[in-house]
Amino acid sequence: MTDAQQLVYLNGAFVPLADAKISVLDRGFIFGDGVYEVIPVYGRKPFRLPQHLARLRRSMDGIGLANPHADAEWERLVAELCSRQPFADQSVYLQVTRGVARRDHAFPKGVAPTVFMMSSPLAVPTREQVEQGVAVITAEDNRWKRCDLKTTSLLGNVLMRQLAAEAGAVETVMFRDGFLTEASASNVLLAIGGAIVAPPTNNLILPGITYDAAVEFAREAGMAVAIRPVRKDEALAADEMWLSSSTKEVLAVTTVDGKPFRGGKPGPVFRRMWEVFQARKPR
Ligand code: PDD
Repeated sequence: MTDAQQLVYLNGAFVPLADAKISVLDRGFIFGDGVYEVIPVYGRKPFRLPQHLARLRRSMDGIGLANPHADAEWERLVAELCSRQPFADQSVYLQVTRGVARRDHAFPKGVAPTVFMMSSPLAVPTREQVEQGVAVITAEDNRWKRCDLKTTSLLGNVLMRQLAAEAGAVETVMFRDGFLTEASASNVLLAIGGAIVAPPTNNLILPGITYDAAVEFAREAGMAVAIRPVRKDEALAADEMWLSSSTKEVLAVTTVDGKPFRGGKPGPVFRRMWEVFQARKPR
């Protein structure tokens, strides 16, 4: 099957990717006026779908966009999309924009949202990445102050990720006013003195579903977790640094700004967390 034949969902119908077309007046294209979700699917079973749908609702509320579907309908659409793919482990991308209207910044009246969903093979970290860890660079967070909303206006994140790509790193870890926020497409967790330490989710950080899952799984497994603001100097002096996201699961950072971080090997708290996460994710 070629990419063009892959079935995607657009505004009520499952169609081949090559036939999924929208207007150039779509506000997603013109303004980045939309929200999205990325949902990992293991063996055709979505991981934490209710939590992703709750965050989608929150993002829509945050931008004043009416949710076009009840959760049960979203669940049915995601299940159908997943069942129509030839691969079992998937990454479902779902996006809702404010729809098609003549260009004017203010919200148009009486316009139906554009709803798009596609699925890709889920590319979790390779064995080598899990065992060796990955490289990040650091930068001052210059994004807007509603990073808690998962909006398609991702230019700030795109530019941050590009800095990492140009440095041969997988992510850019950001700090705002001397405190750790997150990375360009993942949350950041640390281990300090044997405990997991992570910044609280507020308006400056996306409330990551994987972050929540990792914290919940860690606590269930009896690991110590502290959610609190983390100063930049503390983060850079932590015993371990990890990334979390729907596609990265939990992944150790072993190089920061071109230098080996804490011996350049994933630490013991990470290794335990990774095992706990693998044991609890769907299979
Ligand atoms: N990104 N922070 C940012 C800025 C993100 O874009 C993401 C996810 C996360 C982690 O959230 P979650 O655990 O719910 O995936 C944190 C997705 C994967 C993306 O944009 O592709």
